[in-house]
Order: sequence, then structure tokens, then C-alpha cells
Amino acid sequence: MRGVFIKPVSGVEGEIRVPGDKSISHRAALLGGMAHGDTHISNFLLGQDCLSTLRCLKQLGVPSEREGTEVWIHGKGMEAWTEPTDVLDAGNSGTTSRLMLGVLAGSPFTVTMTGDASLRSRPMRRVTDPLKLMGAQIMGRLGGNLFPLTMSGGQLQGQTFRTTVASAQVKSAIILAGLRASGVTTVEEPALSRDHTERMLRGFGVEVLSEKTAVSVHGGGLLTGQDVSVPGDISSAAFFLVLGSLAGSGEIILPNVGVNPTRTGILDALITMGADIELIDVLEICGEPRATLRVRPAKLRGIEIGGDMIPRLIDEIPILAVAACLAEGETVIRDAAELRVKESDRISTVVEGLNALGAKVEELPDGLRIHGQPSLRGGQASSLGDHRLAMAWAIAGMLSKEGVSVEDMAAADVSYPDFMAVIKKVAQ
Ligand code: S3P
Repeated sequence: MRGVFIKPVSGVEGEIRVPGDKSISHRAALLGGMAHGDTHISNFLLGQDCLSTLRCLKQLGVPSEREGTEVWIHGKGMEAWTEPTDVLDAGNSGTTSRLMLGVLAGSPFTVTMTGDASLRSRPMRRVTDPLKLMGAQIMGRLGGNLFPLTMSGGQLQGQTFRTTVASAQVKSAIILAGLRASGVTTVEEPALSRDHTERMLRGFGVEVLSEKTAVSVHGGGLLTGQDVSVPGDISSAAFFLVLGSLAGSGEIILPNVGVNPTRTGILDALITMGADIELIDVLEICGEPRATLRVRPAKLRGIEIGGDMIPRLIDEIPILAVAACLAEGETVIRDAAELRVKESDRISTVVEGLNALGAKVEELPDGLRIHGQPSLRGGQASSLGDHRLAMAWAIAGMLSKEGVSVEDMAAADVSYPDFMAVIKKVAQ
């Protein structure tokens, strides 16, 4: 197996400005495109996923300009979107596809969407079924479950939905469609998923009612262009929280990391495991709290997590599993069957990847059982095209005895294009 070799480190030191939050960058571009007037986004994530959102918007007649991580979207309202002359390609991005389908359900034209091999195998029925019930016509493989999908949007009717999985992509797709539907649209989830759509819609001037795990909007809400400052992505910071905890010496400072409570499960989990993580200067900008995080070495012990905690750290489970391999005792992660429909089946790919590096991880139907060890041997692992696995294996390499050769490390570009340069900078 060829790959990028990641050497073991004896310590880490430095300040890392993690790139902009992926979920918030997508939403800023999308809401900017739906709004009337210009939207200026700072610290936009230049990962492949968010670039897919900008590219799809352009095909729909919404122009944008980019200079470094600053983006300007020239919105003229959703009525100004035009029928694309070609297939929309969402690349690897579940968020681009599902949120975009929600917005397009109310557009009186026909769109075909597709994506890469991973996205073409991910379930879309969770959004297409509710959008069909609201009035959109959708055709695709397996009864509208798999990309490529063709949708003809139009007149929508508001509805109340009770979802069976806590998914911000599903909630957001329905709520965005609800803005173009008649009457009220409500989504009630089994547990609260990330609430960036609700917060940002309020910032763009739309009334959104939230009560416990239910969210409602009235049809017809108009969005007005805004300035959006995107905080650093806690999902990217998570790799350094684990590295800084287990590298043995040194300190990592992570300024401007988003600490929205629907995303901070990784902080709660690591701190419960014994991590030395401090939140400094918490402040809220554009409706999203952010803080400087400081992490120092600590001894970690295993934990049990499940239930409502899972949606709060769903994307961080691969790197949390790396931490658990080096913690004292057993870690059990349950209620996380959603991992099976992420960019890869992250239950089986995490088990296989970590065991190949000398860890002891068991696969559960809905999670993982990880037996902590004092050290990790290292070896070879593939990202299998999944960005979070690429970065988890690289951190495992830095914390291992023999290093790790990561095949398809380039997958990290989906959410963290500078990742390799940054780990080189902090390694001691
Ligand atoms: C996201 C929601 C989550 C997460 C994904 C981004 C979002 O997916 O895993 O990386 O931006 O809404 P689900 O909503 O499907 O759980």
C-alpha cells in the first residue's frame, strides 16, 4: 500500500487556526443565495464540500466572488434561481445535496443532482420522502433513495414531520422547503441535532420557532443578505484536542473555535475522559458562540456514550475512537448506527483501520467497543476516500510507536485542505 508516512512525535506545540466550520459555511452560502441583497462571508471553508455548494449555486444562476477565505454572494431571492442546463454535482457533500434539495423543492423547474461514488450510495429517502409529501416530484433509483435524483419542484404545502433519526441535514432540508410552502412546517426530532440553520435563518431576518427538539417556520419568510463570520470548525479542532491530550508534552492553542452546544459533545466526552481542555474568551458573533481552546497532555480513561450525546459528536467519533485506543480501560459508543451512512460506513471502517494499527476494537451494530492500551503500534491504513478517517489515521500515526502510512491522505481536502502542513508545524 502506498501512502503518506506520518511519523511518531514526542510532543506538540503551537497555535492552530482551524479552518471555518463546514456546516456553517454551507449554510452561509446557501442562505446568501436565497436572500435579497449581498451576503459577505468571512472565514469561509475552502474545503471541496463547500466549494461544491458554491458551484451548484452558480449553476442555479447565483453568482459569487471569492478572495482567500472571503466570499461574496449576490442574492436576488429564491425566485431569481434558474433551471440549470446541466446536472448538479454535489461531489462528496451530503450537506450540499440534502439542503439544496430542500431549497429546490419549492422552485418551479427540474433539476438532476448527483455526486461521487460515496454520495451516490448514501440514503436520500430521509429528505425525498418528506419533500414529496410537501408536493415535490422526485424520481431516482430505489424509489428516490439514491443519487442521481431528478426533482421537479413547485407548490409546496406545509406539514408536520416527526423524524426517526436526529439529522440536521434532514431538519434543514424540510425547514428550507417550509419557507417556500403554504402554512406552517414543523420538524420534531428524537434528539436535538446541530441548530446552525435555525440560528442563521434568524440572522437573515426569518422567524423560526424552536421548542425542545421541534422547529417550525411559516411559509413566505424573506431573507435579507448579511455579513456572516464563520467560526473555526470544532470537528477539525477535535483532531488537535486528541493530539494535544496524548502527544506527551507541549500545549496547543486553538483560537476562534465554534462552541455551539449542539456541537460540543467532543469537549464533554474528552473532559469526562480526563482531558485538560480549557475554554477561554467565549463570545457570540452572528448567533454562534466561539472560544479559544487550550489543550495540554493528560491521562485519559475510557467512557460510555450514547443517547442524546451522539448527534453532538457524530462527526468526531473516528478521532474519539483513536483517543479511546490510548485511554485506560474500555470505551463503549452506542446509539450511533448513523455512522454507517456517513462518507463511509464509519463503524466498520474505524474498526478495520484501528485494528490494522494494533488496536483492539470490536464492532457493535450501533457503535464500537474499544479496549484501551498503553500504546499503539502503527502500520498502514487507508482513508477509503473519507476525509475524517484520513485525519484520524494521521493523528494515530503521530501518537503511535512506528508511525502510520495513510493511503489517500488527500481525502482530507474535503474539510481541511491545509491539514498536512499544520500537523508538520506543530509536531516536535
Ligand atoms: C451536517 C449534519 C450531520 C453531519 C454532517 C454535517 C450538517 O449529518 O454528520 O457532517 O451540516 O447539517 P446528519 O444531519 O445527516 O446527521
